[in-house]
Amino acid sequence: MVGKTSLVKAANRKLEGMGIKAIYVNLWGVRGTHGLLNALAQGLNQERSILQKIRSIAERIEGVSIGAEGVSISLSRRPMTTMWDLLAAIGKQAGDCVIELDEVQELSVISWHLLKLLANIFNTYPNIVFIFTGSMFGLMKTLLEPKSTSPLYGRSPARLYLQPFTREKAAEFLRKGFQEYREPIREAEVNEAVEKLDGIPGWLTLYGNNAAVRKMPHDKALQETIMEGTKIVKDELEHFLEGRDRTLYITTLKVTAISARWKEIKNAIETRKGSSVNDATIQNIIENLKAAMLINEHEGVYTIKDPMLKTLLLTSQIT
Ligand SMILES: Nc1ncnc2c1ncn2[C@@H]1O[C@H](COP(=O)(O)OP(=O)(O)OP(=O)(O)O)[C@@H](O)[C@H]1O
Ligand SMILES: [Mg+2]
Repeated sequence: MVGKTSLVKAANRKLEGMGIKAIYVNLWGVRGTHGLLNALAQGLNQERSILQKIRSIAERIEGVSIGAEGVSISLSRRPMTTMWDLLAAIGKQAGDCVIELDEVQELSVISWHLLKLLANIFNTYPNIVFIFTGSMFGLMKTLLEPKSTSPLYGRSPARLYLQPFTREKAAEFLRKGFQEYREPIREAEVNEAVEKLDGIPGWLTLYGNNAAVRKMPHDKALQETIMEGTKIVKDELEHFLEGRDRTLYITTLKVTAISARWKEIKNAIETRKGSSVNDATIQNIIENLKAAMLINEHEGVYTIKDPMLKTLLLTSQIT
């Protein structure tokens, strides 16, 4: 909720002004190559001018058909080949364009295929530029820090770290919003909102919408924001926990929500498990949580920054 998708979409308007087309691909919840193909098709259907340019080639690709509703993908025997053919059509016919893979970590299961595909495209069609967004774990890390065995070795992308607003910026953001809606600005309320929501643009926007647009009284607006926010965070956390050892992760998150050192995390886990757990396992959990940006470390102390995640964990809404 820090504004990744918004930034990409805002950049698109500027690109448009420069005559560069962008295909936005939302990968949230996508699994495997067919999912990727369908997501790309959806992105193409939003950018008809590119679709128009590649139409004559794309129509002949196995597994791809183009009708009145745009591109659709049928189950093909070799989805990765279909993917390559489709991207090659874009590379040949669409001119300079940008393909945006939002939440790229979702493609972890097919990361090797994806890396090979990207390396081929980088070599063959330099007119296609990729933007990846996601949390700094798994595939995103592999993309940003290619090892010598990676097809992308020597081609690490430029990075952009998106940080929450500072407290001052957050307060300014809320004041501006109230001003735009001609609502009175009450400093104490602005301060309390920033205090409770931190500088996360997504939470500030939810609050601002409740207070200035839906005209809720401050307390109710804040309460609603926290309810809605914890729900969103809960869904995302559940998604992160899929296929991981739930007990170990939740236990770690719960102690870090209060703030904990390494030893305290280990103790909490062992108490919960009722048996000893080796250091490497603990380290691995901590590294994954850090990379997913769920926890932070400062001088050996682990904490949780996101106020919604903290509330979720400390009020036992998740077990
Ligand atoms: N720079 C900004 N100024 C004002 N509002 C913003 C800004 N960035 C994001 N927002 C608002 O914050 C909300 C969350 O932003 P967005 O969905 O882009 O975040 P995200 O990082 O993609 O979130 P997620 O982690 O859910 O994918 C949106 O409602 C958006 O309008
Ligand atoms: Mg997003």
